[in-house]
Amino acid sequence: MKVTAAAPAKINLQLSVGALRADGYHDLVTVYQALDLRDEVTIFERAEGMGVQCGISGDFSSGVPGDESNLAVKAVKLVAELVGVSCDLNIQITKRIPVAAGLAGGSADAAAALAAAAELYGYGGDLQPLAEQLGSDVTFSLLGGTALGTSRGEVVVPVLARGNYCWVIISSSNGLSTPRVYQKLDQLRDEGAVREPLQLAPKNELLQALVSGSATEIAAHLSNDLQPAALALVPKLQRILDVAVEDGALASLVAGSGPTCIALAKDHDHALDIAARISGQNLADRVLVATSPAAGTEITAIEKN
Ligand code: C5P
Repeated sequence: MKVTAAAPAKINLQLSVGALRADGYHDLVTVYQALDLRDEVTIFERAEGMGVQCGISGDFSSGVPGDESNLAVKAVKLVAELVGVSCDLNIQITKRIPVAAGLAGGSADAAAALAAAAELYGYGGDLQPLAEQLGSDVTFSLLGGTALGTSRGEVVVPVLARGNYCWVIISSSNGLSTPRVYQKLDQLRDEGAVREPLQLAPKNELLQALVSGSATEIAAHLSNDLQPAALALVPKLQRILDVAVEDGALASLVAGSGPTCIALAKDHDHALDIAARISGQNLADRVLVATSPAAGTEITAIEKN
């Protein structure tokens, strides 16, 4: 049997970061939205004892490891272990989500691999505990849509949201490691350069804006506590954020831990227009247009032998 699953990239409309916890993570309050930018994972069985083989293709395949460090490899092994079978699989990942970009591309691959392996092995149990083990954003990748994330981001509940939002996704080739950005934030806080939020809570204005369905309202209430840390590590991102607004975006901000920057447009044509102008300025590696919210992880094809 051959199973393909697709899983979405995410953006954070609010990313409020609390104190560093004893387990090395930070408590968060975040509002996630899934983008219609998806990675695909196809799996099929190999002869017994052959183990897992993982190949990567697609627009953003460069530099992605196919070894044990790949979250999709870890994901299929977790499912096989639960089912009690030896894990002998071919994995093919089609990467359309920029890598080490703050868009949870690795988490999307993990979520798609979990769903595909569950289908292939006939595992009907809850995938959420496995998703939590794999990474803070994997549970949201399974769910998709719009959701409030708490704890280290892995506890997610759907949030009411109207409308669709059009984004320009401005990616840079120099990926940023998530732990490094959190560490930089801790350092900036220790130095007194930025402050920890007094209260770690969802922002009511943002939740109300989501109910209104107005892009202009959303634009006024976007926030990301990791942005000063990403900007301190990659100062040229500030120019990208400024240019996006000069080019007509309603707002711009760093996506998650960066270095991707996202800019909110009025509609799809407006997003294409801004994307064309930014592309012409040679500031970014790749400029894409995407819409939120979008579906979570889905099985997209099943081929029986
Ligand atoms: O959960 P995930 O593996 O994606 O996290 C990668 C790293 O990002 C963690 O090891 C930690 O350093 C940092 N992180 C954090 N607080 C979070 C999520 C991630 O400090 N809530």
